[in-house]
Amino acid sequence: MEAILLVGGQGTRLRPLTISTPKPLLPTAGVPLLEHQLTRARDAGVTRIVFATSYRAEMFTEAFGDGTRLGLEIVYVTEDEPLGTAGAIRNASAALTCADDSPVLILNGDILSGHDISAQIAAHEKDDAAVTLHLTLVDDARRYGSVPTSPDDRVLDFVEKSPNPPTNQVNAGCYVFRRSVIDSIPAGRVVSVEYETFPGLLAKGETICGYVEAAYWLDVGTPAAFVKGVTDLVLGALASPVLTANEHGVLLLDNATVAPTARVGGGTAVGAGASIGADARVESSVLFDGAVIEPGARVIRSVVGAGARVCSAAVLEDCVIGDGATVGPGNELLNGARVWPNVALPATAIRFSPE
Ligand code: GTP
Repeated sequence: MEAILLVGGQGTRLRPLTISTPKPLLPTAGVPLLEHQLTRARDAGVTRIVFATSYRAEMFTEAFGDGTRLGLEIVYVTEDEPLGTAGAIRNASAALTCADDSPVLILNGDILSGHDISAQIAAHEKDDAAVTLHLTLVDDARRYGSVPTSPDDRVLDFVEKSPNPPTNQVNAGCYVFRRSVIDSIPAGRVVSVEYETFPGLLAKGETICGYVEAAYWLDVGTPAAFVKGVTDLVLGALASPVLTANEHGVLLLDNATVAPTARVGGGTAVGAGASIGADARVESSVLFDGAVIEPGARVIRSVVGAGARVCSAAVLEDCVIGDGATVGPGNELLNGARVWPNVALPATAIRFSPE
């Protein structure tokens, strides 16, 4: 079976991490974020994947090549200008080889999901649907596309980001399309799957089905969600084919070092060559390769970029530190503060919180 993976977005909400690395390639428990879904798709029977790239397209080729490493055939189709989600799917269809009536799996490159992809494909084939969407259940659907369905799983409406969502079933960003439906999307212009393609298909009376499964699901769009995704993977809350859950609640990659008196836990991932000094505390955080946490520093629910340094007695809570940045001794950064790459904060012991 063939699939299209959408990986052309700019990941603006995750800046500054996405300035140098596209969101789907951010190191996530030791591998690029998209690798968790890619290997799950492979295990569900996908053999060939078209990457729909745009932003920093060359980095995907460098990371995955022809896919041999993962037992997949990977090909790349790059948009000169981003075409939006449906425009990208339409553009990538030029590289599909399957027949008009074949199912094609579409994956967002920034989702972590434990749902049963094989069962979604089987539901699509049983209903002979034009499109079958994975729908997950959330407590508050206002930030999502709410998708009510009939008792026989037919989608009744698409209500994007409404203050009064009709249901807490939401579009989970994983679709099965009949190939011919992809080819009916207008070519060569920006098209949104959520705002244009799905409502248009519904208006034309096409059969669109919902596959509802409330397995683990996370849209890794913000720094807080990124931290949650990594720590959940490390703690085993989401099983991934490329990771064995570890019982200590910490993932230490190659040559990472932790001083014996440091306290590290909560699903923290410590990148290759990163180090944590004596008496430091690192909780539920993500340290990229070569990050340095000096003695006595405290890092909670934060991301520390590649080669960045958190000096002694500095405190980070819910923060993002860009690659190569330095947080001088004694600074206290809280509540979503972000330090841009290679910036050096002096040792002024300031307390900074954007809220
Ligand atoms: P934000 O800028 O923070 O909203 O992130 P994003 O750019 O990733 O956008 P969004 O989360 O809505 O994208 C969902 C998925 O679609 C991600 O995997 C993106 O990489 C991908 N995507 C979004 N827009 C495009 C596009 O124009 N072209 C391609 N090829 N992929 C896209």
